Amino acid sequence: MSKDIIIAPSILSADFAKLGEEVRAIDEAGCDWIHIDVMDGHFVPNLTFGPPVISCIRPHTKKIFDVHLMIAPADPYLEDYAKAGADIITVHAEAGPHIHRSLQFIRSLGKKAGVSLNPSTPESVLEYIIDDVDLILVMTVNPGFGGQSFIDSQCDKIRNIRKMIGTRDIWLEVDGGVNRDTVHKVTSAGADVIVAGSGVFKGAPYADNISAIRENGKAAQV
Ligand code: DX5
Ligand code: ZN
Repeated sequence: MSKDIIIAPSILSADFAKLGEEVRAIDEAGCDWIHIDVMDGHFVPNLTFGPPVISCIRPHTKKIFDVHLMIAPADPYLEDYAKAGADIITVHAEAGPHIHRSLQFIRSLGKKAGVSLNPSTPESVLEYIIDDVDLILVMTVNPGFGGQSFIDSQCDKIRNIRKMIGTRDIWLEVDGGVNRDTVHKVTSAGADVIVAGSGVFKGAPYADNISAIRENGKAAQV
């Protein structure tokens, strides 16, 4: 496989006091998408922001807004996220009993539909929804916080999902603890969209971090 790797910095690790500026900075530093983590203090033990903040940063870049909803329930709010400027809306498989309905609703709003799996959730939940998704997000940390350590056991799941996807046109995204030193583990398993929070916003200039993640990820692709 030699699909282009998509780098999606998570603005959870950005300076919230200057979010618009941070979004422009990662855009200029060469990112592909902007990953936006929405948390509700209920589905995950942390709170971030909602549609008004997303609307405010929308004019700062033309790049794809990849909105990761860590909220339950999600359905009552999906339209608000679509209106706020999301291009891809991802809901968690664990966030409610009617994930198929949520995915159909996202597509009916004209947006790409994603489903995310917590580390303890097996890939078998995808069996009857795989043709209803544009993106599958494998969490390689327990969702809620940036800066956690990568969970190695998820690599087998990524590999299995890559096989399930087969020739379907579905992005396989990985989120949590991915940086220039761990990215090889996920691209060698078949991931093609890399979310990185601290791996982009900490340690070195954003452009250096993004290109190091891209190069190391590409080198390990199979
Ligand atoms: C975690 C979020 C991630 C987070 C990743 O709940 O979904 O997107 O920002 O942060 P790092 O890359 O620092 O693990
Ligand atoms: Zn995320």
